Amino acid sequence: MNIVLLGPPGAGKGSLAQLLKEEHSLLHISTGDLLREEMKKESDLGKQAKSYVEKGELVPDELVTQLLANKLKTAPKQAGYLLDGYPRTRAQAESLDALLKEIERPVQLALYLDCDLDLIIRRITGRRVAPKSGRVYHIVNRPPKREGFCDESGEPLIQRPDDNEETVRKRMAVYLENTLPIVQYYEDQGILRKMDGAKESEDLQQELVELIDEQARLN
Ligand code: AP5
Repeated sequence: MNIVLLGPPGAGKGSLAQLLKEEHSLLHISTGDLLREEMKKESDLGKQAKSYVEKGELVPDELVTQLLANKLKTAPKQAGYLLDGYPRTRAQAESLDALLKEIERPVQLALYLDCDLDLIIRRITGRRVAPKSGRVYHIVNRPPKREGFCDESGEPLIQRPDDNEETVRKRMAVYLENTLPIVQYYEDQGILRKMDGAKESEDLQQELVELIDEQARLN
């Protein structure tokens, strides 16, 4: 199944995607992760993206869309995809439709994870990540077995530079202005489902599996 994950920063999109891709062989494509890889490599695109990401602003549409198009066009055809963090603007949603038409892999489900600002701030300021393994932890909700180190790779955990309260508030404002309106875009296409991001990721995964089964029965 081809799925788009929508929702504010910290709603749990990445955590849910992690569970789904492991259990259901979906290809997880996060534009945030792709941009962080480019920044780490210090590529031209990474250098251009850095100042936007660190300030909590959106990277210009054409840069992100190019990055996503390269990834989708080279992705194995048999796997469904799980897009996390794209689209984030109306222009991106329209570019995505055009791109997916070209590769004949339309979005079948847009999943909107909703979450309130207080919870978002607690989640994001407590988030710690393992850059190599990609594992995501939370100092209270999901602590690693050994404080400060990844369970899987043993590498030291870091805090993303954009995970401070000031930048989170900025990211939330950007989200409300640019991204929330595209929820309606998918509602109008009849493929939107809303879920409560405050729930445990495992419960959300279970709800989603039931939803995917239901859709498969209908098709
Ligand atoms: P991106 O990396 O996409 O960040 P985001 O959308 O702000 O989302 P997050 O990664 O912060 O949150 P999440 O929902 O994945 O939450 P997570 O599961 O980690 O983008 C970063 C930047 O890149 C943007 O600001 C922008 O500059 C740029 N960018 C990216 N895409 C772009 C695009 N398309 N166009 C333009 N610019 C773009 O969870 C958060 C924490 O909560 C974790 O610690 C986790 O352990 C914990 N947690 C999660 N779920 C639960 C739960 N159910 N219960 C308890 N704890 C939980």
